[in-house]
Amino acid sequence: MRKLIINGGNKLKGEITISGAKNSAVALIPAALLCDEEVILNNVPNISDVDALEEILLYLDAEIDRKQENVVRINSKAISNKPIKENLAKKLRASYYFMGALLGKYKHVEMSFPGGCSIGKRPIDLHLKGFKALGAKVSGDDENIILDADELTGADIYLDFASVGATINIMFAAVRAKGTTIIKNAAKEPEIPNIADFLNLMGAKIKGAGTDIITIEGVDHLKSCTHSVLPDRIEAGTYIIIGAACAEKLVIKNIIPKHIDSLLEKLKEMNVKMSVKKDSVIIKESKNIKATEIITLVYPGFPTDLQQVLASLMVKADGVSSIEETIWENRFLNLYELGKMGAKIEVNGSKAFITGPSKLRGTEVNATDLRAGAGLIVAALEADGKTVINNADYILRGYENIVDKLKNVNADIELV
Ligand code: EPZ
Repeated sequence: MRKLIINGGNKLKGEITISGAKNSAVALIPAALLCDEEVILNNVPNISDVDALEEILLYLDAEIDRKQENVVRINSKAISNKPIKENLAKKLRASYYFMGALLGKYKHVEMSFPGGCSIGKRPIDLHLKGFKALGAKVSGDDENIILDADELTGADIYLDFASVGATINIMFAAVRAKGTTIIKNAAKEPEIPNIADFLNLMGAKIKGAGTDIITIEGVDHLKSCTHSVLPDRIEAGTYIIIGAACAEKLVIKNIIPKHIDSLLEKLKEMNVKMSVKKDSVIIKESKNIKATEIITLVYPGFPTDLQQVLASLMVKADGVSSIEETIWENRFLNLYELGKMGAKIEVNGSKAFITGPSKLRGTEVNATDLRAGAGLIVAALEADGKTVINNADYILRGYENIVDKLKNVNADIELV
């Protein structure tokens, strides 16, 4: 694993342009398998999770072309529906999208359980509940899962929790089922309509994506199309938080502000100086940052994927800030690392309390997962002296060109 070396304290100035959303791209790429013709995806971030999906597509004998920057062309006319082995499936959580896509297309899938960041138990029972309702038999063992159906038939499926992955995976299988599927209590994260738009461009009939009831009328055939990945709201939120912590003046471009409303409102409460434009946010040097409270919730609530990043700004805030994490069981490991840098933190079950302001000191810390790592970058940029962030590869799974983007705005950061 590589390391990031950051010398903190620089004032950041300039512009950062947000890339395509990881969590949409990692679903759109497996979704391309549902079609027998070439599809073209634009604005795909160049991150290692996309590299891992490319490996799986190549293993399945799909044609994939990434010669043009941020463009992925996929043709899965002649793929072989082979069991996806552990070494491929475990590289990323989103490998679970091959379940829905291959089940939809071939009515049969064999694969190892997905991997991904260790942020909680990460069950897939709701995905399986959906596949079973559509008529699939689920078998396998502790390591592998087999899904098999003679035919998939539309069904009404109620999700006990509005799971992002289960909503998307059920849409994938349902677009090639016979009849109508209704997903109730569907997830509403902005990536979901972006993915439904792609399927609809291919000829699917999906209505209601982005609301809690999605209706899918199955079709026999999906056709070629070109589609774009929406801007990454979590990457946008990360750089805005970096700006709040360290900017002289930072302009974050290619943003859909509505998608990060919950963060922007919290930053206003924290006294961060910013102006929100149609598709950008300008952040000025912010002094006298105030403590705040957040509870992570499904969209449009405060995103779990930004709580670890915001924690590093809370360290600078005056007073006691609190975080309640309600989505994942194990998403506070970053706080122990922040403690090594001098933050005053108390963790009590799913709640954490951060007392500030503290001046952080550079030291050696470990990125335990993607967003924990992003939070440590914020802390290292704030800190006095040199911070070494181990396991930086976690961060590169989800942030395109993060080192260059930060260097271009005057950060002292190196990947070694
Ligand atoms: C997606 O994960 C994202 N990953 C996560 O982003 C994000 O944290 C999460 O949604 C919540 O927004 C991708 O899109 C690849 P969920 P996903 O199913 O779909 C429980 C990042 O940092 N659950 O909405 O796996 C689960 O345990 C990553 O970019 C079940 O109980 O999340 C959790 O408590 C990390 N059974 C809650 O639902 C299931 O079958 C939310 O999970 C599925 C989920």
